[in-house]
Amino acid sequence: PIDSPRLTVIGTGYLGATHAICMAALGYEVLGVDVDEEKIAKLQSGETPIFEPGLPELLTKALDSGRLRFTTSYTEAARFGDVHFICVGTPQQAGSDAADVSYVDAAVRSLAPHLDRRALVVGRSTVPVGTAERLTGLLRELAPAGTDVELAWNPEFLREGFAVDDTLHPDRLVFGVASDWAEERLRAAFRPVLEYGAPVVRTDLATAELVKVAANSFLATKISYINAMAEVCEAVGADVKDLADALALDDRIGGRFLKPGLGFGGGCLPKDIRAFAHRAEEMGVGQATSFLREVDKINQRRRARTVDLVGELLGGRIAGARVAAWGAAFKPNSDDIRDAPALEVARTLHGLGADVRVYDPAALGNARRAFPELSYGESALDVARGADVVVLLTEWTEFREVDPDALGAVVDHRRIVDGRHVLNAGRWRAAGWEYRALGRP
Ligand code: UDX
Repeated sequence: PIDSPRLTVIGTGYLGATHAICMAALGYEVLGVDVDEEKIAKLQSGETPIFEPGLPELLTKALDSGRLRFTTSYTEAARFGDVHFICVGTPQQAGSDAADVSYVDAAVRSLAPHLDRRALVVGRSTVPVGTAERLTGLLRELAPAGTDVELAWNPEFLREGFAVDDTLHPDRLVFGVASDWAEERLRAAFRPVLEYGAPVVRTDLATAELVKVAANSFLATKISYINAMAEVCEAVGADVKDLADALALDDRIGGRFLKPGLGFGGGCLPKDIRAFAHRAEEMGVGQATSFLREVDKINQRRRARTVDLVGELLGGRIAGARVAAWGAAFKPNSDDIRDAPALEVARTLHGLGADVRVYDPAALGNARRAFPELSYGESALDVARGADVVVLLTEWTEFREVDPDALGAVVDHRRIVDGRHVLNAGRWRAAGWEYRALGRP
């Protein structure tokens, strides 16, 4: 029946696993689909593939309720689902700024030939504008003759660390559709979320695809804007923290995503702005997005500048210095180290001959596997023992709460670089620390 469609979620990575689990928690019958047998076996046994607060508990409940199952079979998926969500990854292509959409294509190619009744296929992945129109053609071509299948686009906006809440209570739902029927089906597939009050923007496929990259570009631009101001502040001896606080009080500007520091990383913002600029160039409107290249460069410069600050605090002697690196994840409440500014700084310092010891509350395992050449420790104080300088790189609450005197007792020199502007400079200086932060005197 139209008011309780059965849902399949294709791709059980970060986005797909969260979507499948949350939809089952809301009461839908859900089938998660992935080509990775190991991942499917883990999920089926109650193990989440990612670190995400609240998700393991919801997975256990959903499995116990019998509403959530996982499979590697597309035949089963096609038979089961009324609405098929595509949630596979679109990473940056090797050697190019373009997004790699081959997993999205593969999902449509695998599913379409098995569809046996009227169904809606819904893309949620972040894709170059124009992909949905192309996939509409592919779907029509590959679905068995006479089956009435349609494609819609419904971008997701979830943040790591808040993925469950962002899925259950999104700021908005964007429905890129080609018919009223598709909109009705989407409304049925999000009924509890809509009842909670999420506003819907109905639009065409291309606009829906663009909303996602335009939103992420805006957020990245806002961060790089304040970081560009940090560069100006540094040149003239002004204080970017006070500047940002003052700008934030203008409610047309607002304080969110206006935190200066080491800048953005992760699996979305950096690759999305590059892919968007690349796609715009392909479409002949490269001028309209050329500022995103600057946004990217400003962001990269923050990493280099943080390494410089460490060098300045060490009197230019990085080689042989003992550096305590606090943080590895690209942001707090996450174990994700994709394009993590923290690890790039740690690796650069290591490359310059420093003895770098890294600690992170959640991402140590991932960091160890990816960069075995670095040293790691089990706590913030542990890695700081005998350190010549401490560098705060990811703004975990636990780092904000460290007592300057307790830390001072284990380090060799009281020097700290606050890469995220989260420590109270006055308090640390009063405790005898040389405190430095990007864009502050
Ligand atoms: C982002 C978008 O917010 C989300 O809507 C989209 O769906 C995926 O990309 P996420 O990658 O989880 O989500 O990270 P987010 O919380 O947005 O933070 C991005 C990065 O910006 C982090 O590295 C963070 O440390 C940094 N950041 C954020 C700043 O440097 N300053 C700020 O003021 C805010």
